[in-house]
Amino acid sequence: MDRINLGGSELEASRIVLGCMRISEMKTDALARHISTAIEHGINLFDHADIYGRGECERKFGKLLATELDRKDILIQSKCGIRHERKKDVQYYDLSKAYIIDAVDGILERLGTDYLDLLMLHRPDALMEPEEISEAFDRLHDTGKVRHFGLSNFNANQFDFVQQHTSHKLITNQVQFGPAAAHLVNSGMQANTPFEGAADRDGGLLEQSRLNDVTLQAWSPFHYGYFEGIIMDDPKFEKLNKVLEDIGQSHGITKNAAAIAWILRHPATMQTIVGTTDTSRLEDIAKAGNVRLSREEWYQIYATAGNMVP
Ligand SMILES: NC(=O)c1ccc[n+]([C@@H]2O[C@H](COP(=O)([O-])OP(=O)(O)OC[C@H]3O[C@@H](n4cnc5c(N)ncnc54)[C@H](OP(=O)(O)O)[C@@H]3O)[C@@H](O)[C@H]2O)c1
Repeated sequence: MDRINLGGSELEASRIVLGCMRISEMKTDALARHISTAIEHGINLFDHADIYGRGECERKFGKLLATELDRKDILIQSKCGIRHERKKDVQYYDLSKAYIIDAVDGILERLGTDYLDLLMLHRPDALMEPEEISEAFDRLHDTGKVRHFGLSNFNANQFDFVQQHTSHKLITNQVQFGPAAAHLVNSGMQANTPFEGAADRDGGLLEQSRLNDVTLQAWSPFHYGYFEGIIMDDPKFEKLNKVLEDIGQSHGITKNAAAIAWILRHPATMQTIVGTTDTSRLEDIAKAGNVRLSREEWYQIYATAGNMVP
């Protein structure tokens, strides 16, 4: 599988990343097999966040790191900034300096490692002070706890806003993208039309990321809407499933892999973060890394997923 230098940095990471959001549900033996299968198929980057499984996902991964994995052979990224006060049942965002620094200490302790290759801020915080973010990044970098920084779910202006306050190049932006959640390309496709899809919801994030050599990481590739469900075998997406199956078959891959190949085909050279906990599905998906869809196939999947080609 191809590797890319994230955001032009020295971090060489696989185009397909294993998302660890659901691994707290896995038995330890199954998880060990899952991770080693990922590595055998060329996946070398693992995506975490402090809130996944309320810390349990990082803790489980940390146990494997202590016993079965070689830290220097893999890259680990995690995210912080989403807080949940269970007693008051309040969810909120916190990108204050103190919180970011504390959150990283918690992440490192749970993972049992002394550094993260990449830290991302999980979602924009309405109350964020970019000077504080910058100071937190300096401290984490100077103490060797974090090698690189990125953001997640930030629009283009928010991204620039943070970037202009820190000397560390922000190398990634992790955003939702997939055939049935294609808002990243929709407004560009419908540019100069009166259609609803022409509305620019992210400030031209796709072009901004390409211009500034920021790697986009596409999360939840099989989802539609905002966590409404997945496209696979959903009767609402019967035609899309058939097209993915047919295109997949012609390349010797499954329909899941065809959906991933669709993301990888975009010239922005994105990564995609897959969250499967099924090891045979992961093996199938990894084959997408060797397939390049034609322009016609790309558009056929795009349109069949319900996106407009005016
Ligand atoms: N930055 C953010 O805000 C953000 C938000 C969400 C997620 N993420 C990251 O993105 C990663 C991926 O997210 P995700 O797990 O939601 O995305 P996903 O890879 O699109 O979805 C995986 C889900 O779809 C199911 N699935 C896939 N193919 C299927 C099929 N053919 N039949 C039945 N079920 C199928 C999987 O079940 P199986 O396990 O059975 O395969 C799993 O429950 C996460 O692990 C996390 O690292 C980031």
